[in-house]
Amino acid sequence: MKRLVRETIEDYCREHSASPSALLQELEAYTIAHCAQSQMLTGAIEGALLRILVQLTGAHRILEIGMFTGYSALTMAEALPEGGTILSCDVNPETTAIARSFFERSPHGRKIEVHLGPALETLAALPTDRNFDLVFIDADKESYLNYYEAALPRLRAGGLLVADNVLWSGAVLKPERPSDHAIVAFNDRVKRDTRVENVMLTVRDGVTLVRKR
Ligand SMILES: C[S@@+](CC[C@H](N)C(=O)[O-])C[C@H]1O[C@@H](n2cnc3c(N)ncnc32)[C@H](O)[C@@H]1O
Repeated sequence: MKRLVRETIEDYCREHSASPSALLQELEAYTIAHCAQSQMLTGAIEGALLRILVQLTGAHRILEIGMFTGYSALTMAEALPEGGTILSCDVNPETTAIARSFFERSPHGRKIEVHLGPALETLAALPTDRNFDLVFIDADKESYLNYYEAALPRLRAGGLLVADNVLWSGAVLKPERPSDHAIVAFNDRVKRDTRVENVMLTVRDGVTLVRKR
C-alpha cells in the first residue's frame, strides 16, 4: 500500500490520537512478524477512528467484512458496550486462527462472533431480521459493491457503513487493475446512491463514511 499522507504527518497524527491497548499493540507486532501482507491491518489511527465511530453511533450490533488477524474487530469490540456484538467474516483459516487466539485473551473477545467463509454466503445465510447499527467493509476490493448492496438493507436507518481503502493507494485516479476499477465503481455508486449520504476521508488509504437515510 502506497502511503498517501506524508510519513511525518502520519506519525504526528498517531502520536496525537488515542493509543491502542497493549493487546492490540501486541497483535500488530505479531502480525508484522508472522503474516504476509501485514500492511492490511488497519492500525492505530484508523483503529482510533473506528473506536470513536462505534461510541458516537452508540452501535450495539456490528458487521465486519474482512477480519484478517482481528485488529479492527478487537478495536471495535473494546469500544462496544457490554452485550454488544460483532459478526466478523473472513475466508482465511490461518489468519482467523491468529485472530481467535488474541480474542481469547481479551475480556472483549466474547463480543466477536467469527464466521469463516465467503462473506456474501455468510450474509445470505443470516436470518432476514438480523440487522446492524454499523458495518465495516475491508475485504477483497473486487467485491466491495456486492458487499455494499448485501449489507445496506441490513443496516438500520441512521446507521453507519464504513469502507476502507477507498483511495486504493491513489489508483482511483488512474484505474488499471480489476481491483482499481472495482473501487472506482464502488465510490461512484455510493456518491450517486440516494439511500445514503457520505463523506470520503483521506485517512490512511482512504475511508468513506456512509450514513443510511
Ligand atoms: C484488508 S484485510 C482486513 C484487515 C482487517 N480489517 C484488520 O484491521 O486487520 C482483508 C481480509 O479480507 C479477507 N477476505 C478476502 N476475500 C473474502 C471473502 N470473500 N469473504 C470474507 N473475507 C474475505 C482476506 O482473507 C483478508 O483477511
